[in-house]
Amino acid sequence: MKKTLLLALLLGALGGTHAQTTTVASPDKNVVLKTQLAANGTVSYSVSYKKTTFVEPSTLGFSLSRPKTMLTQFSLVSIDSATVDETWKPVWGEVNQIRNHYKALTLTLKDKAGIVVKVAFRVFNEGVGFRYEFPKQEHLNHFVVADELTQINLAGDYKAFWIPGDYDTNEYLYNTTPLSQVDAVAAAAKETDIALKSVIGPNVIQVPLMLKTPTGMYINLHEAALVNYPVMHLALDKKTFTLTSHLVPDAVGNKAYLQTPFSTPWRTINVSDKATDILASKMILNLNEPSKIMDVSWIKPQKFIGMWWEMHVGKATWEKASGKHGANTANVKTYIDFAAQHGFDGVLVEGWNEGWEDWFGNWKENVFDFITPYPDYNTKELTEYARQKGVRIIMHHETSGAVTNYERWMDKAFRYMQDNHMNTVKTGYVGRIIPRGEHHDGQWMVNHYERVAQKAAEYKIMVEAHEPAHPTGLHRTYPNWLANEAARGNEFNNAPKLGLVPEHETILPFTRLMGGPMDYTPGFFHFQLNQYDASRTTRVRTTLAKQLALYVTMYSPLQMAGDFPENFNKHLDAFQFIKDVPVDWDDTKVLAAEPGDFVTIARKAKGKPNWFLGAISDENARTSILNFDFLEEGATYQATIYRDGEGADWQTNPEAYEIEKMTVTNKTTLSIRLAKGGGCAISIIKQ
Ligand code: NOJ
Ligand code: CA
Repeated sequence: MKKTLLLALLLGALGGTHAQTTTVASPDKNVVLKTQLAANGTVSYSVSYKKTTFVEPSTLGFSLSRPKTMLTQFSLVSIDSATVDETWKPVWGEVNQIRNHYKALTLTLKDKAGIVVKVAFRVFNEGVGFRYEFPKQEHLNHFVVADELTQINLAGDYKAFWIPGDYDTNEYLYNTTPLSQVDAVAAAAKETDIALKSVIGPNVIQVPLMLKTPTGMYINLHEAALVNYPVMHLALDKKTFTLTSHLVPDAVGNKAYLQTPFSTPWRTINVSDKATDILASKMILNLNEPSKIMDVSWIKPQKFIGMWWEMHVGKATWEKASGKHGANTANVKTYIDFAAQHGFDGVLVEGWNEGWEDWFGNWKENVFDFITPYPDYNTKELTEYARQKGVRIIMHHETSGAVTNYERWMDKAFRYMQDNHMNTVKTGYVGRIIPRGEHHDGQWMVNHYERVAQKAAEYKIMVEAHEPAHPTGLHRTYPNWLANEAARGNEFNNAPKLGLVPEHETILPFTRLMGGPMDYTPGFFHFQLNQYDASRTTRVRTTLAKQLALYVTMYSPLQMAGDFPENFNKHLDAFQFIKDVPVDWDDTKVLAAEPGDFVTIARKAKGKPNWFLGAISDENARTSILNFDFLEEGATYQATIYRDGEGADWQTNPEAYEIEKMTVTNKTTLSIRLAKGGGCAISIIKQ
């Protein structure tokens, strides 16, 4: 790591009458950050890309409720700058090494009462990250945040891919409108499939927020390293296109309880004139801290199936009383058999434990104890059976939002997992949070999710959370935190009203996935979801080939094959792709992408010369031109192409697929037809 302190300037002109500006360019000079301290003490920044200013002067500051003060007018104490260029290796990921190259600028500011606040900027080729730092100091120890006053003042009425701001859920469908036409309340009103909504207001939207300017610039706004602080939503002024941070409050209306020294999460602004660059960016990971887990040898990317979709489509139930209890010993054994036969690492079992009879909706605290199976679920017998077959059962801890209860049981629950040969847990937070009045996205819950990752690591357990706050790259710091849901997943195909739309998976990589891997649960092979309940009208909104392509386009080190064995068994030839596709990669090439329309990605398997490619389309059919120039020069590969068949269409003929084998080299170009709601998956094995 090369770190140079270029300048530490002590400015004499404190409180002077002139505006003081500082400019920093990214290493490639394309991104330019300008900061300004106005004569009245206001601090602002602006950002340009290739000489076009897209973030106009935007002010920074805080309102504290304890001590009661506004931190909005400052004098400049010093300016520090540095260049960092280092490379690090993630424990798992889309690539096997990541370059962290940026120019840093830190403004040390002092307000009238003597409170010192630093604003640290990092300017990458890919954009800008900045955060506030409150050093240990004489005039500030404990403090309570009433509001963070960060602005992102956009230069125009950009096209936005947005979901309503909400304190408790991020499971919305994306809306695509100019910023001036955002109506979060109207959009949320249509979302009757979401069990718990806490909509903030008509003009508040969530990050990651994807934007496109009329001249073809792509901008992504998010946050990195969300630790001990609430989630940031954005309040939009529809006349000026100014976005202002809106932090999630706690039960009494405060935002964050802090003590110096403290640094806020990074506010991130990714920018490029290529959509593919946004997807390839590692800026958010670079802004997170290195792994806090020293021995990572037990952390393993994995593929799993689940005794799970049966419940969603009405074949079985979580609760025992119905008489259709899915998680019984005999049924779970059939899943273990299938997993072992096809080389899966794990079997998720939901509904194994007592409590599901009244699991959510009553704001009840002591729902589950996480260690007591239903009488027809024999933990010991299944542990032994799974062990013999070389498979692990994946634990399910649905908390139903009763998080105080989960915290009390967590140690015992993790020990129970250890005792029974389990090393991965799917947590869940359906319903209103207890402590009552707290939100899924508030500081208290953000701390809870981190505590789970830490405690799980003590027991060498890997975690994936459903219904948590949006991810912000913390999987770098806690590589045992493999994935999260935190968005509308594939399971919403079964939601009765809006369900999913075919463009959804072309937007997710530009939004939710910016913060980290998603447990999207691809791999549905049966499309009309009335197989076991004739009254259902729900259906999967993709073709079968697109379900395969999602294993490549939706990056995750934890990939489920969502459907159940009976449906996979009908298409074992297509299922082969799910068996073959890796969950850890040496390299990734984002070949083509446009949010809302299409995504094509190729990835090289970790430690192997083989590549896997996924291409997906929205509701339109289109031709995808695939250029294999990413392959090794001079080598030949056998490609197996799983593509939409003749007449395939997500609505009328989702199951039509064709499998074709051919030899390819780095000179090969293929033209592949993607159906409406379709896709294509290719395994490319070196000969
Ligand atoms: C919602 C989760 O997203 C889903 O995967 C799970 O099956 C149910 N909650 C029950 O916990
Ligand atoms: Ca589209």
